[in-house]
Amino acid sequence: MRPFLKWAGGKTRIVDRIKEVLPDGRRLIEPFVGSGALFLNAEFPRYLLADANKDLINCYQQLQSGGGEYIGRCAAYFTPANNAADAYYALRDRFNATVDPLERAALFVYLNRHGYNGLCRYNSSGGFNVPFGRYAKPYFPKDEMVAFCRKAPRCTFQVAGFLQTMDAAEPGDVVYCDPPYVPLSSTANFTSYNADGFTMESQRALAAKAAEVARRGVPVIISNHDTPFTRTIYADAHDLIGFEVQRHISCDGANRAKAAELLAVFLGSPLPQHRSAAVTSPAEFSM
Ligand SMILES: C[S@@+](CC[C@H](N)C(=O)[O-])C[C@H]1O[C@@H](n2cnc3c(N)ncnc32)[C@H](O)[C@@H]1O
Repeated sequence: MRPFLKWAGGKTRIVDRIKEVLPDGRRLIEPFVGSGALFLNAEFPRYLLADANKDLINCYQQLQSGGGEYIGRCAAYFTPANNAADAYYALRDRFNATVDPLERAALFVYLNRHGYNGLCRYNSSGGFNVPFGRYAKPYFPKDEMVAFCRKAPRCTFQVAGFLQTMDAAEPGDVVYCDPPYVPLSSTANFTSYNADGFTMESQRALAAKAAEVARRGVPVIISNHDTPFTRTIYADAHDLIGFEVQRHISCDGANRAKAAELLAVFLGSPLPQHRSAAVTSPAEFSM
C-alpha cells in the first residue's frame, strides 16, 4: 500500500527492512507518522499515529470521519484549470485563510500534489509557503485514499510531540520512530539546529526516551541516517543495523546515489547496566 501524500523522508522503499525487525504486538505506535508508509503495510490490531504537524493529522482525521465524501471533495480541486500558477496561489491563499478544518484538509491534498516536490513548509507566521510545482498532470491518489480509509477504523490520530506519544506506550505496544533525519555532513553534526527545527538535542532526547520506554517492556525501533553521531546516541540499543538505500539527496550537494540508513532496535526488556550496542548485519539479526 502506498501513502496518498508525498512526504519528505517517506519510508516506502525500506518498509520491508523495517518489518524484518518489527515485533508483533497489540498496537503499533508511530510518534512521527508522516505519510504513514510503515503502518499502512504492517498488520496490527490497533494503531496510535501521531505527528507534530496539525495539517497532516487533520487531513487523516477528516478522511477517517468523512470517507468517500471527503475524497470527493479533495478530487474536485484536481482540475486542469487548477493546475496553473495563478490558481495554485489563489488556493494556497484560501488554505492559509480558512478556519474550516474540512476545507483546509481538502486543500492540503491539492497543495501536496501541486506544490513543489510535495514539500510541506510554513513561514514564520505559520503560512504554507511552498511554490507551485509545475507538474504536467498531478495524480489524484484516490485508490491510496480508499485503502487508507479501510485501515482508519483501527487508528487513533493525534497531534503531539514525540515525548508525549512515547509516554503513552504500554507493554503489548510496539513503537516505530522515524524522526527528521540528522544531517549527513559532519560539520552540520556539530550545530544544534536543522531545517525542521528538530535539533541534535531532540535526537538525543528521542534516543534516551527509547531506552526508557524499552526498560518499561515496550520494544522501540528508530530509523535514521547511519552516521557516527547516530551510532553514538543509539549506543543503548540492543542492535544497530546499517544498510544502504538508493536515494536522491539534493541537499547533500553531490546528489549521492546511495544513503546509509540505520535501524536502532531497543528490545522491550530491562537493559543490563552500561551495555554497549552490538552491531550486526541484517542477515545475522533475528528477533
Ligand atoms: C521523516 S518524517 C516521517 C516520515 C514517515 N515515516 C513516512 O513514511 O512518510 C518526520 C516527521 O516528524 C514530524 N515531526 C517533526 N518534529 C516532531 C516532533 N517534535 N514530534 C513529533 N513529530 C515531529 C514531521 O512533521 C514529519 O512528519
